[in-house]
Amino acid sequence: MNEFSYRNGTLYAENVPVKLLAEKFGTPLYIYSKNHFLGQFNAIKKAFAELNPVICYAMKANANFSIMQEMAKAGAGVDTVSLGEIARAIKAGADPKKIVFAGVGKRDDEIEYALDQDILMFTVESEPELDAINAVAAKRKKVAPVALRINPDVDPKTHKHISTGKRENKFGIDIARAQAAIAQVKGLKNLKLLGLHMHIGSQITEFDKHGEAIDKVSALVKFAREQGMPLEYLDVGGGYGIAYKPEQGVGPGIEEFAKNMIPRIKATGLKLVMEPGRYICGNGGILVTSVIYDKPSGDKNFLVVDAAMNDLIRPSIYEAYHKIWPVNATTEVDAALDAKSGTKYDVVGPICESTDFLAKERMLPKSKRGDLLAVFSAGAYGYAMASTYNQRPRVAEIVVDGKNFWLARQRETLEDLTRADVLKPQVQTA
Ligand code: LLP
Repeated sequence: MNEFSYRNGTLYAENVPVKLLAEKFGTPLYIYSKNHFLGQFNAIKKAFAELNPVICYAMKANANFSIMQEMAKAGAGVDTVSLGEIARAIKAGADPKKIVFAGVGKRDDEIEYALDQDILMFTVESEPELDAINAVAAKRKKVAPVALRINPDVDPKTHKHISTGKRENKFGIDIARAQAAIAQVKGLKNLKLLGLHMHIGSQITEFDKHGEAIDKVSALVKFAREQGMPLEYLDVGGGYGIAYKPEQGVGPGIEEFAKNMIPRIKATGLKLVMEPGRYICGNGGILVTSVIYDKPSGDKNFLVVDAAMNDLIRPSIYEAYHKIWPVNATTEVDAALDAKSGTKYDVVGPICESTDFLAKERMLPKSKRGDLLAVFSAGAYGYAMASTYNQRPRVAEIVVDGKNFWLARQRETLEDLTRADVLKPQVQTA
């Protein structure tokens, strides 16, 4: 599904011209397609229909409040990793009974909060965490529902910074220690072992990697049952990749993925939980930016734009590819663009770092001050990872639904930048 398309010489977000939104709300600007998010959610639901999974949207990918509300209305649960995420999910209308809580460093106050909200389960990432949750639950006279996050030592074949299921990664319980951890839960009165969990990495495009990990984790299901602990859930995490490059087409098909996974999940007899993030929102958002200068320098052509690494950090830290193309154009890409008709640009932002770039050596039509560019596939880990580095206020976010659109998050102001500053500090003495 592509909700961003060129019509009559300009880019549309669903049925709204992007340039209209840029004029109305300014740039840089994030624009999301509501129907992309819902369409992707429904595609997963359909592909896995025979298992009727609990689909917990990984809100770390995009926690826009409107989007979270729409996801909750559609029946999605939420995968969370902090107290802040749990609170935001509930505020947006998520059912706590569909919230899972992961993370290698849960503090006591976070555990307490999650227990009080009655979430579906904690996904526990270490033996000391089992003791910590048990202690907090005992204090509150509760039994905490837990799933063990297993580190299956599988190479997901993705960027090293977003791989999480290899032995050297900090995540989960080493599969070699998993049986002992299961036995540990048995001895802890205030824990109930509800399931097993895995999440091997992000932007994974080889389905057999998930399959390999599921097979390894499934072997523990039998062990847990023998220990008298009948599990309910197998949470397979997220990580399903999307297409970032035009030639990747629509990306890996979810149906094919489902075909690979369903028999494996069925064999365990457990209920499936999934935690997709990027698959739901990645291609449902663009970042619109204006050209400030076309700056030839040395052997290069720099296209200086008003969006920067503080708005979209993925190119800087993962060398991630994001398609960039003018908002005013007749087609999505111009394959005929060559050295004569186009310019090879490094698209860079105004931040004082050499790593502040959105694209390198990218062939684009010659551009000038004021031209609008769209940075595609920016719906996941875009705004979510934005910062105010260099005192740049975070940008506005718009949601589009057919012909309708609304401001979902305001552009931050200069006042917002100093809101938490103590302007007249009260000095105390030790
Ligand atoms: N579940 C858990 C426990 C996770 O840690 C993550 C992502 C997900 C689910 C969702 O994964 P997804 O379906 O989105 O791949 N900032 C990086 C991605 C970091 C992913 C962190 N964990 C990026 O921009 O590529």
